[in-house]
Amino acid sequence: MQISFVTNAAAGDGAWVVGATEGGALLPASVRLDKACGGALTRALKFSRFTGKAGQMLEVLAPTGVAASRLLLVGLGKVEALDEKGLETLGAQIVGRLYTSGETAASFEIDVPKGSKVKKAELAAHLAFGAKLRSYAFDKYRTRNLDEYEKKLKTIRVVTADAAAAKKAHAGLAAVAEGIFLARDLVNEPPNILYPAEFARRAKVQLTKLGVKVEILGEAEMKKRGFGALLGVGQGSDRESQLVVMQWNGGKKNAAPVALVGKGVCFDSGGLSIKVGAGMQGMKGDMAGAACVTGTMLALATRKAKVNAVGVIGLVENMPDGGAFRPDDVLTSLSGQTIEVLNTDAEGRLVLADALTYTQRRFKPKFLIDLATLTGAIVQTLGYEHAGIFSNDDQLVQRVQAAGRATGERVWQLPLDPFYDKMIRSKIADMKNIGGGNSGSITAAQFLLRFIEKGTVWAHLDIAGVAWQDGEQKPTIPSWGTGWGVRLLNRLVKEHYEA
Ligand code: BES
Ligand code: MN
Ligand code: ZN
Repeated sequence: MQISFVTNAAAGDGAWVVGATEGGALLPASVRLDKACGGALTRALKFSRFTGKAGQMLEVLAPTGVAASRLLLVGLGKVEALDEKGLETLGAQIVGRLYTSGETAASFEIDVPKGSKVKKAELAAHLAFGAKLRSYAFDKYRTRNLDEYEKKLKTIRVVTADAAAAKKAHAGLAAVAEGIFLARDLVNEPPNILYPAEFARRAKVQLTKLGVKVEILGEAEMKKRGFGALLGVGQGSDRESQLVVMQWNGGKKNAAPVALVGKGVCFDSGGLSIKVGAGMQGMKGDMAGAACVTGTMLALATRKAKVNAVGVIGLVENMPDGGAFRPDDVLTSLSGQTIEVLNTDAEGRLVLADALTYTQRRFKPKFLIDLATLTGAIVQTLGYEHAGIFSNDDQLVQRVQAAGRATGERVWQLPLDPFYDKMIRSKIADMKNIGGGNSGSITAAQFLLRFIEKGTVWAHLDIAGVAWQDGEQKPTIPSWGTGWGVRLLNRLVKEHYEA
């Protein structure tokens, strides 16, 4: 989708999108257009239920007096409530509507309503960002009825008094959109195509071009170094496990990096503790944490963020074969701690354990955030609107929460406590890999905490409920994989960690 910003355009070809606030008050561009077409908009308003509520739309086809093929009046809702996320949703809703109409080009001319705190450039940039997010599709495996899926709308002009500033603000957001699209692609891709080595290859190809240093460790290398927990998980698969290390050095030389660690289980069958059929569906997405880390690295590098950032992802496939790890096995992790495996389906924490140790020891990061589709329990607890956050640092939690509220990728804090830690004591090893009772998301986080070294500021995001969506789709998320977390992490870095 081609997006540009222009000042002072006259209503030209294609759809012309203008706004009204709640109560139905037309914004200046709407009034102007209404006059140009002899009052067609106000007449149409009289015969409609349009009240200007956020997302409402009123369409006038082939108006006389202007070259536009259609006028689309959109509701912005209450002036005080207008914000970045709302504008993104609106931009997405407009594009969704124009997709159904088959328009090929559109101009958005939506003024900042009086009394709103939103800046002109910001309004234009976030509308465009939402439009762009809605333009994502994953249709590469369709071979029939392609016209049904074709998106005809290809160009959007955003009319704004502050085109230069809008363009600049949008450049940063466009980089984030690219990161989100990469994350969505990785999550949507089927597991026969996207196995660990293929994921690693794509990360390397996409990121190296942007100046990110990408290293890939294979099984031999990891075995030599002692990645016993991660390798244990991958042992039952024909596909080789991989660790990918991505470094973006946009900050001060030798400044400690921010670190992102992702769970990358390219398919989670459960292993020998095999999942039931219905529970296995969708487990191609069990690498969403790794996808988010990779997408965020792409976003940071694309917008040349002034920060040192490292992304580490553990890529494995959890499969049951004759060589697979078993319930009752004891694994020795990279940290030296031993783990009694009582359920091979609690594999994500094993992958993360070694990735966490490696990242801390090698990089001594300013903070470390891991992202993982770690537990079904978090889906039961928080559903699809919040990721769970667990942390040893209140300031980091507050910062992530604030970034979440600003971007709409929200998190909710859950507790860590020695009481829960007791639940993962093992009869024969340093710990076991399941709590064996309730509070499954918390015992999983307690497990990870055992791999956090002294002085590391750490947060764990359990994204099992937000990484993909099965039911109703949000306007800005037209696919199964959501790309959740890229916006949040980009925002966090931008607000607090950039030079
Ligand atoms: N990848 C799953 C978690 C998951 C479940 C993600 C549903 C998304 C949707 C994870 O590896 C897993 O299987 N966890 C188990 C842990 C249990 C065996 C302690 C779970 O949640 O049931
Ligand atoms: Mn599992
Ligand atoms: Zn899993």
